[in-house]
Amino acid sequence: MTNDTRAGGEAFALEIEHLKIHAHPSGKPLVDGVSVTLGRGEILALVGESGCGKTMTVSSVMGLLPAGVHKTAGRINIMGEDTAGWSSEAYRRIRNERVSIVMQNPMSAFDPVFTIFSHFSETLVSHGYDGKNSRRTAADALRELGFGDPSAILDLYPFQMSGGMLQRVMLAIALLSHPPLIIADEATTDLDLVSQKKILTLLKDYSKKNDCAILLITHDFGVAASLAQRIALMKHGKIVESGDVKDFFDNPKSDYARILLSSHRGLYTERFRSIKELLGV
Ligand SMILES: Nc1ncnc2c1ncn2[C@@H]1O[C@H](COP(=O)(O)OP(=O)(O)OP(=O)(O)O)[C@@H](O)[C@H]1O
Ligand SMILES: [Mg+2]
Repeated sequence: MTNDTRAGGEAFALEIEHLKIHAHPSGKPLVDGVSVTLGRGEILALVGESGCGKTMTVSSVMGLLPAGVHKTAGRINIMGEDTAGWSSEAYRRIRNERVSIVMQNPMSAFDPVFTIFSHFSETLVSHGYDGKNSRRTAADALRELGFGDPSAILDLYPFQMSGGMLQRVMLAIALLSHPPLIIADEATTDLDLVSQKKILTLLKDYSKKNDCAILLITHDFGVAASLAQRIALMKHGKIVESGDVKDFFDNPKSDYARILLSSHRGLYTERFRSIKELLGV
């Protein structure tokens, strides 16, 4: 990987090597040779312009590529296990146990005919909760994510909630599972700044306390700078630069990163400051 020379193996929560994804076998790849590693307990921000392939990359990690889109090359290891040849049942088994994903489009992650509490059920059952116990646990998890009346939320259907509320529910379910790896695809984009601050602080504390690795996809350089230890920048399906987050902001190496940072400098400086202030870091 660009600027990333670490050896593979058990030290990694996630290893992606030379990943290629195509919608049409003879067409231009949507993801073109991406290599990324994420250490255990580490937070890596994956950034890049809209359409560069961030969601396709993480969808492929989770075995969730859309119909007609295929992984055509590369290797993906999750918690040291090679995912080559995994069935949808194998992916289902590791979901939440070993890796949780908070999707960019929260509505698509929920089944419209089930209440929010039903969406907690699978996770709660697999962790040995039952009856009253499980309802209280789900309500506590929602309260942590800023819901004032979590008991009422549990009885709602997904279509009765906003995108930001669903993102927080997804995070609550993800954290409840205590996975060693969380993939958060624009997990706070639908939230106001105050909620965003709360959730980002919670994620950062959670990662530290539980040694949980987080692959954080974001458009927001302020978020990347505040939360991540490392950053990878994508463009047109490729990683153009990756490395330590401080080095990236202080001394970007690629022309693309330099252009992006300087063109966003005014906005970024303001945003960076405000997120830093909000997070108190
Ligand atoms: N179902 C699909 N079939 C074919 N191509 C698709 C499909 N969904 C997305 N694409 C294309 O794949 C490329 C990568 O899309 P992707 O969703 O990964 O971008 P992204 O980096 O996540 O963008 P954003 O920041 O807007 O979320 C884009 O060119 C997009 O048009
Ligand atoms: Mg996306």
